[in-house]
Amino acid sequence: MQIPLINVGKGESHLRTATGTLLIIVATYNSYWLLVIMGVLLIFTGTLYYCPVCHLLGIRSKASRENFYLSFLPRYNIQPVSIFNQEGRLSFANSRYKKIIPQISSSYDFGGEIPDNLETFIGNEAQLRFSFETADAVFQIMVQGVRPIDAVVCYISDITEVVNTNREIINTQKEIVCIMGEIGETRSEETGHHVRRVAEYSRLLAIGCGLSVEEAELIHMASPMHDIGKVGIPDSILTKPGKLTAEEYEIMKTHAKMGYDTLNHSERPILKAAAIIAGEHHEKFDGRGYPNGTAGKAIHLYGRITAVADVFDALGSDRVYKKAWPLAKITALFQEERGKHFDPDLVDFLLANLEQFRDIRIRFSDTKPGG
Ligand SMILES: [Fe+2]
Ligand SMILES: [Fe+2]
Repeated sequence: MQIPLINVGKGESHLRTATGTLLIIVATYNSYWLLVIMGVLLIFTGTLYYCPVCHLLGIRSKASRENFYLSFLPRYNIQPVSIFNQEGRLSFANSRYKKIIPQISSSYDFGGEIPDNLETFIGNEAQLRFSFETADAVFQIMVQGVRPIDAVVCYISDITEVVNTNREIINTQKEIVCIMGEIGETRSEETGHHVRRVAEYSRLLAIGCGLSVEEAELIHMASPMHDIGKVGIPDSILTKPGKLTAEEYEIMKTHAKMGYDTLNHSERPILKAAAIIAGEHHEKFDGRGYPNGTAGKAIHLYGRITAVADVFDALGSDRVYKKAWPLAKITALFQEERGKHFDPDLVDFLLANLEQFRDIRIRFSDTKPGG
């Protein structure tokens, strides 16, 4: 059982003090000592903001419980704190809250994150946490249903700096990975935005086969390094305009294993994914690929995805040894190689969503600065 500390409001406190003073003045002139006692009591309770009679009679008990609760939530808390009543209306906000998110005046303003049925939420003393983004800040909101005051209390942390730092780290990682990938591609004259397009196609394919947004993002970050092993292949083979001899082709094939070996030592998820992609992007669904001749779903999904993305982009781009293919010829090849070179499910997704793949090609065109 909580002890109510305050059950007299500010206005009533002034009223009690004024009335008490008046009673004492009147009592002094008339010698009504009972009035003096009453006056002293009124002044005393008004000053304390607490009336034991009101407490015993249960008058304003809800307000007193609320005030008791608020005594734990300093008005000048460095972080924003607010309370919403059972109807979802803001009943308390500290100064920080009013300064930072004054636009949130109802629990429904959090975009449906807090359930509509507040009565049940409060009754169960439920908790939840979510992030909320405004134009220039990100907040983590921790919400608690508090039964004694029939209200929802929100503890809010401004995490803008943390989120920005995290985004900066991720963007830096992406940039480095892209640059590393471009080093591999540049050596084989595959310039332009090839690795960026492969990254975009790979993410699209990953989402298409039901992977989570996080995993799709991982593939997006790792796939630009698919050909990093080419840094170990001699220029005479990499930049040869004509067909490779059987011996040269064998040397060229080692780039997959070299890429895997280079990246496989890291514990970082992005480099682990990149190692898988570098090692398996030339495996074929029917087992005729390299370096291991793995077949079907035994080829890691990341490898199967990047194989489709890489070939789709390579065929549509000019290379030293060929001109870009028209889209109809590319789709015909994918239909032909469905279940042979490529995972049939991924080919189906590609052919059913060609518009989206074409949009990426336009957005990251070699004749324009890419994103
Ligand atoms: Fe490759
Ligand atoms: Fe490539």
